[in-house]
Amino acid sequence: IYRLSTLFEYVHAASLLHDDVLDNADLRRSKPSARQVWGNSAAVLGGDFLYAAASAIAVECKDLELIQLLSDVLKRMVEGQFLELEHTHDWKITKTAYMEIITAKTATLIAAACTSGAMVAHADDKTMRHLGEFGLNLGIAFQLMDDLLDYTSSQEAFGKPVGKDLKEGKITLPLVYFVSELEKGEGERLAELFKSQKAKDKDYEDLVRRVRTHGAIERVRSEASEYVERACEALGLLPDSPGRRSLMELGTYILTRRR
Ligand code: IPE
Ligand code: MG
Ligand code: MG
Ligand code: MG
Repeated sequence: IYRLSTLFEYVHAASLLHDDVLDNADLRRSKPSARQVWGNSAAVLGGDFLYAAASAIAVECKDLELIQLLSDVLKRMVEGQFLELEHTHDWKITKTAYMEIITAKTATLIAAACTSGAMVAHADDKTMRHLGEFGLNLGIAFQLMDDLLDYTSSQEAFGKPVGKDLKEGKITLPLVYFVSELEKGEGERLAELFKSQKAKDKDYEDLVRRVRTHGAIERVRSEASEYVERACEALGLLPDSPGRRSLMELGTYILTRRR
């Protein structure tokens, strides 16, 4: 279990080192990102190193099933980031494509962390499935909230600048909902403005403000809470324990966090 937690922490940190390069992010958890301090090349190599170190831990566990799970999730995470890249500045992105992106890039890792805990504890298939289901739904809720906070939070609270997704051409669910209710001409005008990189700071601020005050925010928040409910239902199928109670609390944290 101890090795396993190290392994997932490495994978998580590696994915963030790479993610900040992909997203041109200068802040991570309120501090300068690694790429900002040491440059993109070092951040990429640092991420590569942590991925390799995580694989080495998996091998040490001498558990082929675990190695299989880990290699599957690493592929899925990259697929998610690739898909997101493919949809950069895609103002016509569907909710289905958006959900596929966040499931692959974020939720699969949390699901795998939960499943593998059960796996190394030699739990039965049913327990493993319920924990995987918990992690997957919790992970989807987490990324829905992360994308929402990019519109609703503040840099002080969030530890990274708000409105950054839009600046990077990432069309997330709040914007998908907002755009779906615009007049056709207006949607096309905005898409054109932001795609062409002609948008000024004020245009970004205006759009973030419009999305903020739009029903899209409540819609995404309530969907996130539905995913948390689904996660807790899956967990509720397992016997009560202090561990189960802690995991349940994660759901509340995800829905109320500001950073
Ligand atoms: C990427 O999502 C999460 C990973 C798979 C690494 P984001 O790009 O939205 O993550 P933040 O906002 O930079 O933390
Ligand atoms: Mg990012
Ligand atoms: Mg990203
Ligand atoms: Mg984000």
